[in-house]
Formats: sequence, structure tokens, C-alpha cells
Amino acid sequence: MNINGPRGTQDILPGAVEQWQYVEHVLADICRRYNYKEIRTPIFEHTELFQRGVGDSTDIVQKEMYTFEDRGGRSLTLRPEGTAAVVRSFVQNKVYGSPNQPTKLFYTGPMFRYERPQQGRMRQFVQFGIEALGSADPAVDAEVLGLAMNSYQELGLRSLKLVLNSLGDAESRKSHRQALIEHFTPYKGELCEDCQSRLDQNPMRVLDCKKDRDHPAMATAPSILDHLNEFSQNYFNEVKAYLDEMGIDYVIDPNLVRGLDYYNHTAFEIMSEAEGFGAITTLSGGGRYNGLVEEVGGPETPGIGFAMSIERLLMALEAEGVELPIEQNLDCYFVSMGEVAKKKASGIVNELRRSGIQVDQDYAGKKIKGQFKSADRLGAKFVLVLGENELENNQINVKNMMTGDQTEVALDQIVDYMKQEMKEA
Ligand code: HAM
Repeated sequence: MNINGPRGTQDILPGAVEQWQYVEHVLADICRRYNYKEIRTPIFEHTELFQRGVGDSTDIVQKEMYTFEDRGGRSLTLRPEGTAAVVRSFVQNKVYGSPNQPTKLFYTGPMFRYERPQQGRMRQFVQFGIEALGSADPAVDAEVLGLAMNSYQELGLRSLKLVLNSLGDAESRKSHRQALIEHFTPYKGELCEDCQSRLDQNPMRVLDCKKDRDHPAMATAPSILDHLNEFSQNYFNEVKAYLDEMGIDYVIDPNLVRGLDYYNHTAFEIMSEAEGFGAITTLSGGGRYNGLVEEVGGPETPGIGFAMSIERLLMALEAEGVELPIEQNLDCYFVSMGEVAKKKASGIVNELRRSGIQVDQDYAGKKIKGQFKSADRLGAKFVLVLGENELENNQINVKNMMTGDQTEVALDQIVDYMKQEMKEA
């Protein structure tokens, strides 16, 4: 019987995994510079968290969650995103009580959505995200947007577009909601089934519909930006002023609607404009979610964040032809000949490894020529040879594969010698 991995999942094999490690390392380092600390939350949560947090009317909750009952009869869900879980943890661990606010967190980990798989859309994907909880300062919005853009730029992406919108506060959205209902109701019968129910539950989501995108009523729909009250308008202006000061380019799109219910004020997406990136152009998305902490049972606490999938990041790097500086070559390959040399080699290899040097050797009983071939295939920078002659003289032959130079080194000097060579290599 042949059992393949489930649809929409992938194995990340050696050769590719180094790219993941590299970008995760760069992202963690960027977070360190912005003073965001890592948080790790469970992969599953009580289903109710996402129903309340992400929102009952969203596609994620209605159609995409991996929900199951455990043996104790509890409804659990594999996390479809990170924000609700981070907020739950912030509340549960009373992190809001710390004097260091805002609380600035980042996470990297697998998320699960039952979506129709296609390039850039997986059922299990890895999100890197950040959340800043406890400040309603528009400068924090700008910091989050800056971190997002900087992450892509530092990794070498150039064809980026930051799309920005304001969803306003509750009052602004209420007024916009009313205008949307009035605008779309005459066409209700012409809209898709999803939009018909969205019109009742969350009319803003109609603007985000892929099926009804070309309906004439879309182009003339009322814009949220015309419904922002004074506070929301000022807030949006402040965010834009900070972005201008930081030299971050953006385009305003009043139809940018996010697929999760918790957003207000700042909402944004970063798109790839690289040729050949594929049908899905969104690299990441985020926004402000004042009110979510209360929804999850905590004290009034504003929040903002964003998330990207590593899969789409790597796709964009490939589309733009960015080569990551990844070292694939082996430091050392140890060639030995004969039983006695093989035993002796095991001790030296062990010592070299303990001193921090990467070493491999043959375990397939290969002859010397075969061992050299292996060293070559692994791109060994140095080949160390211990044969009968060398054993007799208590020496090892060291070949620097990058220069072709060869030297004999005393057995008891080899670790120090190699340490020095590796420093210079
Ligand atoms: P989201 O827009 O649902 O937002 O997802 C954020 C990013 O996750 C997307 O832009 C995309 O890069 C990636 N993503 C989502 N679904 C898939 C998928 N099926 N396959 C591959 N990648 C995917 C959120 O999840 C929010 N929690 C973001 C946020 C954080 N807002 C505030 N804080």
C-alpha cells in the first residue's frame, strides 16, 4: 500500500530545509532588533477561541477549520492562525500586568486551514507573525508595517507593494455597514450565495468576494474612507504620517478587506509584484484589532500585528531570483584505509566534532577512490587521509580541496590544526 501525505501538505527535505532555517533565523534577528520576543503556543486550542476570536461569519470559521472532538468530548481545533492563540495566552498568563507595555511578541509555526490547495495555498503552512499588545499609538502601527516591509527587503525582495486601508472604529464601521446594506440590497438576488448571507452578517466582506468581483455594484460601493469619523480619520492620518517619515511607500485601497473579523483602524496587505509569482499575490496581511483581548476575556487592550507564510516568502524569493547565502558544503571528510586506521579515525573524528568541526566519513566499506568520490559529492572543504603510511608516521594527510594544497600533520596536532584552518577557510 502506498500512503502519501495529505493533500495541501508538504515535506521539507534536506536541501530545502536550510532555506527555511535561514529565513527563520533572519526573521528572528529582525524581531530581536525591534525588541519582539518569541512566544510558542499550542498547535490546538478550544474551538470556541477561534469562533469568538476570528469570527463566526468568516470563511475560516465556517469552512476551513480542522475541528475534532478529543476523547473527553471537547471540541478542539488545529490553529488556523496565530493571533487568537497569542491573545488567549496574553490573557491567561496575565501578561497585561507586566509594566513593560506594549507586549511585543513573535511566533513561527504551522497553521491549518481546509482550503483548496494551489500554488501558495496549503492546508498546513507555516506562519511567521508578530503581535504588539497594549498600545493604541499609531507609531506602533507604523512599527509593525515597517518590520513587515523590512523583513522582505532584508531578505532581498524588491517587487513589493504595501496596500493600506483603514477600517475605522466601531462607529465608523456601523455607518459604513448601513451604507453597504442600502447599496447592495437592490442587487441581492444577483449576488452569490455567500454574499447574500454576508450582506446580513458582515456586509464589508462582500467587497472581498472573488465571484462577484466584476458585478457593477462593486465599483460604485460606498468606501469606508468616506465613513471614517473624526477620531478614525485622525488615527489613519497619523499612521500615514509615520510611514512617510520612515520612507515606507504604500498605496491606499479602500476595498482592502481582511478575511478575519477582529480588525479595526489599520488594515494592510503586502503583495508581490514579481513576474511569475503566481495567481495568489498576497505575501502577508495584518492590522489592528482593538477589542480582541476583551473578546477573549481580558482587560481592554489594543493590539496590532501581521503574519506571513514562509511558503509564500520562499516563492517570492524564487520568483525574484534571490539566492540565499546558504552553506551546503561539508567542512571535512575523513578517508581511512584498513581496519586499524578506521578504528583510529573514529577517535579523531569524534574529537574534531567535539571541537565544533563538521566531519563525515564512510560507513559503506568503500575503497579509497570511492571515499574520495563521496568527499567530492559532499563538497568537502578538507579531506583528511589516514592510511598505513600515515599511521606508521603518526601523521594525517590533510588536503585543502579549495587550494589543492596538501600537508602532513602530526596526529596529536590535528584538532588544533583543523580548528585554525577552519577559521581561515
Ligand atoms: P491572514 O491574512 O489570514 O491573516 O494570513 C496571513 C498570511 O498567512 C497570508 O498573507 C499568507 O501569507 C499566509 N497564509 C494564509 N493562508 C495560507 C494558506 N492556506 N497557505 C499558505 N499561506 C497562507 C492572519 O492569519 C492574521 N492572524 C494576521 C495577523 C496577525 N493579524 C494581526 N496579527
